[in-house]
Amino acid sequence: MKALVFTTYGNPKEVLKFTEIEKPIPKENEVLIKVKSTTINDYDWSLVRGRPKLYQLMFGLFKPKHTIPGMELSGIVEEIGSKVTMLKVGDHVYGDISELGFGTFAEFIAVNEKTVKVKPPELSFEQAAAIPHAGLLAYQALDKLEENQKVLINGAGGGVGTIALQIAKHHNCFVTGVDSQAKSQMMKDLGFHHVIDYKQTDFTKTGEQYDFILDCKSKKSAFSYLKALKPKGTYVSVGGDLTKLIGILFWGKVLSLFNKKKLEILALKPNQGLEELNSRFSIKSYIDGPYKPEEIPGLIQYFGEGKHKGKIVINF
Ligand SMILES: NC(=O)c1ccc[n+]([C@@H]2O[C@H](COP(=O)([O-])OP(=O)(O)OC[C@H]3O[C@@H](n4cnc5c(N)ncnc54)[C@H](OP(=O)(O)O)[C@@H]3O)[C@@H](O)[C@H]2O)c1
Repeated sequence: MKALVFTTYGNPKEVLKFTEIEKPIPKENEVLIKVKSTTINDYDWSLVRGRPKLYQLMFGLFKPKHTIPGMELSGIVEEIGSKVTMLKVGDHVYGDISELGFGTFAEFIAVNEKTVKVKPPELSFEQAAAIPHAGLLAYQALDKLEENQKVLINGAGGGVGTIALQIAKHHNCFVTGVDSQAKSQMMKDLGFHHVIDYKQTDFTKTGEQYDFILDCKSKKSAFSYLKALKPKGTYVSVGGDLTKLIGILFWGKVLSLFNKKKLEILALKPNQGLEELNSRFSIKSYIDGPYKPEEIPGLIQYFGEGKHKGKIVINF
């Protein structure tokens, strides 16, 4: 089978090569999946470059442990291991395999049956591949969202933000989206009530306060975010600069002792709540693509440069 393989960290366009490798044989608890669609995520951008360097503790010191990137997929079960009980050959499945590693940039992948779910028939393979990771970051982060709240999503034009918008609107919230100017028309078309260009306006300095802030790109101090929260407001970050995240975690714990404002950081629980997310909200991802597998190295670079809109989808 064909797979996109890299054996050394570096520029995605230089280190990733299409290679003919052995098709995996599923172990007793595994299913072999014919990959139909996959996506690009922040982890792929970090994994291939081995950056930030600290991530090499997780990805492999000096050289990658996982040599095929990709962590979200939809596909068809082609073979099952002897102890598989929940899936059968021919099932259409989707999921986020990041808990186990990577490997979806390939024609086939063998994974534990528990890491994928049966795809709802109303979702296309492209839509299904684009939901598990970003969708569950959005869903788990917005867990405490209430009806009719004033919400701000920072980094709103990417995978997480465009799905979070749909959940917030389902709760009749008024939603402000912050991202670069290039994405503002798309964000208005998707239904953000108000859009801010982060290069022009610092939302923490406008004097506006929000009941709920979802941040996909934390780049400011905990105290900036506190200023933008209403007295009982909640701020949840799903990612951003490591030093800022550490500050948010620390001050969030300290402030929780005497302040009603909450600062939290979400650690994703892969695939937890996936069926519920689709049945409650009928999520539709904004898709950038679909592209061809040969385009993946360039697309990882395109992702890293922030040029994509919504989720980049590749069809195998
Ligand atoms: N918590 C967890 O367990 C976990 C697990 C996996 C991933 N993550 C994190 O979750 C986030 C994933 O978000 P995503 O998939 O939606 O990413 P994405 O598709 O890359 O979207 C992020 C958006 O933020 C914008 N942006 C960049 N800098 C910004 C700034 N200073 N202010 C406002 N917007 C800015 C980007 O646009 P431009 O580049 O055009 O400016 C882009 O549109 C990442 O931070 C990732 O590291 C968390």
